[in-house]
Amino acid sequence: MDLDTERLIALDKRFSWHPFTQMADWCAPGHEPLVLVEGKGAVLTDSRGREYLDGNASIWTNVHGHGHPKIVEAIREQAGRLAHASFLGTTNVPATLLAERLVSLFPEGGLSRVFFSDDGSTAVECAMKMALQYRQLVGEGERCEFVAFDGAYHGDTFGAAALGGIGAFHARFERFSGLAVRRCGALEDLPEDGSKIAAVAIEPLVQGANGMRMWPEGMLRGLREWCDRSGAHLILDEVMTGFGRTGTMFACEREGVVPDFIALAKGLTGGTMPLAATLTSEAVYGAFLGKFEEMKTFFYGHSYSGNPLGCAAALASLEVFEEEGVIAGLGAKIERLGEGLVRLRDAHPAVTGIRQCGMIGALDLGGLDWRDRTGARVCEAARAHGLLTRPVVDTLVLMPPLCVTVEEVDGMVGALGSAIADVLEK
Ligand SMILES: Cc1ncc(COP(=O)(O)O)c(C=O)c1O
Repeated sequence: MDLDTERLIALDKRFSWHPFTQMADWCAPGHEPLVLVEGKGAVLTDSRGREYLDGNASIWTNVHGHGHPKIVEAIREQAGRLAHASFLGTTNVPATLLAERLVSLFPEGGLSRVFFSDDGSTAVECAMKMALQYRQLVGEGERCEFVAFDGAYHGDTFGAAALGGIGAFHARFERFSGLAVRRCGALEDLPEDGSKIAAVAIEPLVQGANGMRMWPEGMLRGLREWCDRSGAHLILDEVMTGFGRTGTMFACEREGVVPDFIALAKGLTGGTMPLAATLTSEAVYGAFLGKFEEMKTFFYGHSYSGNPLGCAAALASLEVFEEEGVIAGLGAKIERLGEGLVRLRDAHPAVTGIRQCGMIGALDLGGLDWRDRTGARVCEAARAHGLLTRPVVDTLVLMPPLCVTVEEVDGMVGALGSAIADVLEK
């Protein structure tokens, strides 16, 4: 591989357009982007040979660490057999096996059908379209509105973005979506009359992009009850919370809730390949069955739906969960992360709040002007201390891969503390 860092950076600045990035800053002469070239476990290496702890699991995707041999081998083996063939008109081995495996992760009779797509946004988009079409098919076409929550983030495609409640990302496009979305701040804001509601969408337990805001305990259960009372479907967006992030395999387990739709992506492949899945119930699926000319078909899909490489990676990742007892092994790490957050709060007056849900940790830097980009500057400073992470405005996030060791958790906490001191205490 060509590791001429200067040249790579020049090329990147000349030709690439990065997500969620002010490219004028990115391309400024003083900015030297990291060129990542390798990953092993919770450690990433850049083109200059510098190592970093992956403090946000590569934007909340990585689960078992980078380069996990079992997942690498599964992808390699599958690539040698069949990298891709259309799931439209044919099926393939790993997708078939994965669908069965995913269904088995949920209580029997709950979620029984799996629809594959490519990323978190399309998994949510797909649930929304299924929810709307279902109502039309069962003669409830008047149920055509969604309920979504303030501060929500469900992705960037138009439908998923219409459910979003973060002004900076969503306000600009809101009026173009054409979707009717009722916005709520809390359970108490849900409408008395839910008869027009097709579905409610929520990030269970934690709103990720809203600075890791935690829902009060019991909220999810309450929401399920409201949906049952009002006849609305419940869409759980477990794109971030799924696959162990909150300490259980799925966040919904924590409140004994089974949704009507669940959107999975990010950690589905252990964080190695873009693959997503929308699971739904037999009752929803059944409404789409009929003679072709009845036009009940779900006319939705993507070229890479059911991609064999992604599905092979996901199967391997689920095997690693079992073989390595990943969920059972999280307790000590979660505790260590919690202790680290408390240490940071106690040591740095700038840290005005901490939050944790399983392997998700967040620290608020209080009383700052968002335009100063303090959170981003702290995360930039953390690189010099061997930590890579991204803030949500002035909330710092520590969300390591589940494979992280307690020593690595301490290393992340120490690096973040040094970075806070560099930026705010000098
Ligand atoms: C809860 C949630 N839903 C959906 C998405 C969108 O996923 P993707 O970026 O894979 O489209 C994200 C991404 O951060 C997310 O956190």
